[in-house]
Amino acid sequence: MDRRHFLAAGAAATASTLLPSNATAKAAPDNLFQHVNFFSDGLALTPREYTALLDKAVQAQNFAPDYYSRGGAIEALEAKFAARLGKEAAIFLPTGTLANQLAVRKLAGNDRRVLVQAESHLYNDSGDAAQVLSGLTLLPLAPGRAAFTLDEAKEWAARSAGGRVESRIGVLSIESPVRRRQHAFVPFEELVRLTGWAREQGIRCHLDGARLFNLPQHTGRSVKEHAALFDTVYVSLWKHFNGASGAILAGDAGFIEGLYHVRRQFGGGLPYAWPLVAFVDSFLDDYETQYARAWQAADQVIATLEASGHFTARKLENGTSTFLLKATGITSAVLAERAEKHGVLLPRLPDETTEIPLQVNTSLLRKSPEAVARAFDPRQGGRSPAE
Ligand SMILES: Cc1ncc(COP(=O)(O)O)c(C=O)c1O
Repeated sequence: MDRRHFLAAGAAATASTLLPSNATAKAAPDNLFQHVNFFSDGLALTPREYTALLDKAVQAQNFAPDYYSRGGAIEALEAKFAARLGKEAAIFLPTGTLANQLAVRKLAGNDRRVLVQAESHLYNDSGDAAQVLSGLTLLPLAPGRAAFTLDEAKEWAARSAGGRVESRIGVLSIESPVRRRQHAFVPFEELVRLTGWAREQGIRCHLDGARLFNLPQHTGRSVKEHAALFDTVYVSLWKHFNGASGAILAGDAGFIEGLYHVRRQFGGGLPYAWPLVAFVDSFLDDYETQYARAWQAADQVIATLEASGHFTARKLENGTSTFLLKATGITSAVLAERAEKHGVLLPRLPDETTEIPLQVNTSLLRKSPEAVARAFDPRQGGRSPAE
């Protein structure tokens, strides 16, 4: 959908968040599915594009609606994601915020302390929901960094267990990629070390894998290999897979069983969830291939822009979908305006921004790399009719 995406600008990834340039763009009827965007995790579908895909999905012969988020298309999606993640079962939740909440709440059992990254969504962007709604104590580690180390986790576990009142850590929750660190990933070997230690301690593990399906391209480890390290895994349905909202939480059958009661308790049992995710499965099958192709295209765009002498691009350490672009002699606002005329939508950032964070997503495959590069820099050559 043509959502108001919020971007964390700059290395500090502060709350300085602004609307993308197409926040108000309307796709003309004959101009559907044409835009390339560099501000979102997915296609940033316009309402018309969304309803066109929805219409197609519900015409499938076996399409069946859910009722209170149970049965029909929702049950089918849960089964598909569970298999894809290598887990026994999965449950649909209306948001990732709720998925994280329900996961850590149930995993914690009687040990109510949770180790989290200080930069995680769970710690920063859920309004203390875990503390207020679930009586958990979040222990934020490694501020300013994507990941914490095993030593840091051990130190806090020892501190927790050695207090006057013993209070044990029940859950290790890890987000990867980390949105507030420009989507940097937590190295796979670090995940192995952390979750291996946690298991020895009887600490259960949750993965906020909102953008999990981008990891294989950058870590060389599969989605299933990542998921296998954790008791529960959450994946967003609206970021890479273009739903209107929604999340999958996957785990053991015993863990997922009955969780729909808690979903409803939290006001998350949507009477009809299917319009949010009816066509999501069509994007799941070849997502990883498409994302890999999107990066090939992005690399070509970067090479062309750098060859022009007017741009420099920087990739990040342990980076996934984000790269940073510096333009000489043009403000980010003017650049965004220019690119938009050529159907390429950039994030709208303050003029003083020197490096523009750009997101690589599958919308890049809608135009040739040459046409995308020309949209940034018309001096690359005249407009081609293919634009
Ligand atoms: C890493 C991460 N976790 C969780 C969430 C929450 O997802 P939702 O917006 O579906 O509640 C987000 C959303 O922006 C996110 O980036």
